[in-house]
Amino acid sequence: MNGSPLLLAQGFPGFDGFLGTRAAIMTDVVFVAMFAVVPIMAWSIWLVRGRGLDGDAKLLLHKRVQLALGVILLIAVIAFEVDLRLLTSWKDRAAPSRHFIPGAWCVVWYCLSIHLVFAVPTLLMWVYVIAMGLRKFEQSPRPNEYSATHRVTGRLAAIGMSMTALTGWIFYYLAFVA
Ligand code: HEM
Repeated sequence: MNGSPLLLAQGFPGFDGFLGTRAAIMTDVVFVAMFAVVPIMAWSIWLVRGRGLDGDAKLLLHKRVQLALGVILLIAVIAFEVDLRLLTSWKDRAAPSRHFIPGAWCVVWYCLSIHLVFAVPTLLMWVYVIAMGLRKFEQSPRPNEYSATHRVTGRLAAIGMSMTALTGWIFYYLAFVA
């Protein structure tokens, strides 16, 4: 064992997170936020699947929830990138992990690569799905000729976000906890 994560967290550049692991503050914020984002997204999609009565209200709520999630995620990603690239070094923080070998391919690097394979296309996909949704649906959204395309791209964007969260959580554990 490496001892208490709290003690290990001392001495890294940047601000430590609040979860008591070696992760930096914005890493903790995104790690925790994903536990809210994924269920809220699933609920927003569930709303429009079995619409029934109140269909219009549900579609409008779906639009608002997805827009809010998009804006929150964008702000979180920017803050996360500033934190990780300018203020701290995730590699320093991951160095004590038994799964990390500085300067070599190792479990943490494999995991980060898999995470990025999902995270980068998902970010682009969300921008695309939101931009096209706003363009192709009315202000108060109603099913139209764009529905079928949106259902496919929306599902892909949702699967991408779920996989981004899952692989992100695994990376977090291997790099900053183990
Ligand atoms: C990244 C953001 C979004 C995701 C992941 C997403 C996801 C989805 C999914 C998966 C469905 C299909 C549900 C089913 O299986 O029936 C759906 C339906 C719908 N979404 Fe989105 N959505 C997003 C943003 C938006 C936005 C911004 C709007 C409006 C401007 C919108 C309007 C609609 C409408 C109108 C439907 C119903 C389509 C129909 O069945 O006729 N969505 N969305």
